[in-house]
Amino acid sequence: MSAQREHFSSKIGFILAAAGSAVGIGNLVGFPVAATKNGGGAFLLIYAAFVLFICLPVMLAEMGLGRRAQHSPYRAYAELGQGLKRWRMAGWLATITPFMIAVFYMVITVWIFGYLIQSFAGNLDQLATPEYFGQFVNDYNFVAYLVGVTIIINFILIGGVRKGIERASKILMPTLFLMLVLLVTFVLTLDNAWAGVEFYLVPDFSKINGSVINGALAQAFFSLSLGMGILITYGSYFRRSDDIVTSGKLVAVTDTAVAFIAGLMTLPAIFAIYPETNPESLSDSSVSMIFSFFPNIFLALSESIGYAAASVAATIFFLLAFVAAITSLVSIIEVPTSSLMEKKNISRKQALVYMGIALTVLTLIAATSFGLVPLFSEFTNYAGSSKSVFDVIYDVFYDTILPLNGLLICLFVRFRWKRAQLTAELSEGNANYQTSWLEKYVSFAIGTFIPLILAVIFTNTV
Ligand code: PHE
Repeated sequence: MSAQREHFSSKIGFILAAAGSAVGIGNLVGFPVAATKNGGGAFLLIYAAFVLFICLPVMLAEMGLGRRAQHSPYRAYAELGQGLKRWRMAGWLATITPFMIAVFYMVITVWIFGYLIQSFAGNLDQLATPEYFGQFVNDYNFVAYLVGVTIIINFILIGGVRKGIERASKILMPTLFLMLVLLVTFVLTLDNAWAGVEFYLVPDFSKINGSVINGALAQAFFSLSLGMGILITYGSYFRRSDDIVTSGKLVAVTDTAVAFIAGLMTLPAIFAIYPETNPESLSDSSVSMIFSFFPNIFLALSESIGYAAASVAATIFFLLAFVAAITSLVSIIEVPTSSLMEKKNISRKQALVYMGIALTVLTLIAATSFGLVPLFSEFTNYAGSSKSVFDVIYDVFYDTILPLNGLLICLFVRFRWKRAQLTAELSEGNANYQTSWLEKYVSFAIGTFIPLILAVIFTNTV
């Protein structure tokens, strides 16, 4: 199959596709709120350091492994790992992880789609009532929204790498950026908006402790789409002459910049509407921020700018979140899809049909596990906790498996593939890399303290 493997047509195509993967719901709400609660500028500094010193090397390793193998994670690990069982396991894990994360991300994306349609239809006042979200998640309308999202995703993925993922990213990412800038500009003109900027940016080092540091690294890891097999798969769509190193740096910078800029929208919006907000009281959960808190902000906004204008602002916000979520979902579903194509030697269309069925079934189980279908909520109760299937997937895969996958790729580079091979791979398409300080740093860090740190995070969560 590798002879006919599709490749991104250009560097910018890859960068936009990978940035599309990286920029997601986590950037828009999760990151800004975490920063504000955990020391503002101090958190931002720590986060930036993690992106640069820990995430970038892992990112380059994933992309390098993918391009070397020209395969999706499963076969990449199997071939470069010379068939050893433990590396096959790593490849298997890097294939199942994106599938499971896709399920929980799909649920959120479907909700966002529902909120987008409702705010577009002028129902902002209903969205803002306290009971709405609870009723919404337990309503069979979910199925209709799920069908909508599934059609959009398949429409993109069926086009393949160039005509699907790359083309969609080239349209959607600039649109996303434009909407973000529009909202930031609008929000910053509201009275009291700057109080939010202050909470977000003024550093408070007294807030920094072990769990904040841990959280910042987990957030950076998730935000850059690491440990999900995505960058291995996208790396395999690189040509030998493409410059992985520069592309990786640009993706990391873009993702971090979007997260940073989103903070200039999210926090000022909160403080302009609720000046008395205590940052400590903001919810850690992006889900409750997006679906319970934000509709209220937009409704309160209608008192000063009118209901119609507030509905437009809400619609743009949900469209922004939807575009961010769709481009991430596409990347994560591409991993098991391309693995299936390779493993079973089937067409993209066939693989998408199988994936579509499996994902739909699991998404329905996760989405109805809040009470709609008692079996699925009871099932998790029997397991000894009162968590929904949705929460269990989130806890297991986000908290635990992501750092484990990161750890595995570091060990793979150190003990199996060897660091000199990684350097050789990354130097193709970027001749200067071999002699750069970055090469020295990556080679050292990836075989020493990065896996150590990831191992600590992993053992803390199991
Ligand atoms: N980087 C995404 C975010 O911040 C996370 C993600 C990527 C989730 C790809 C799913 C798929 O939201």
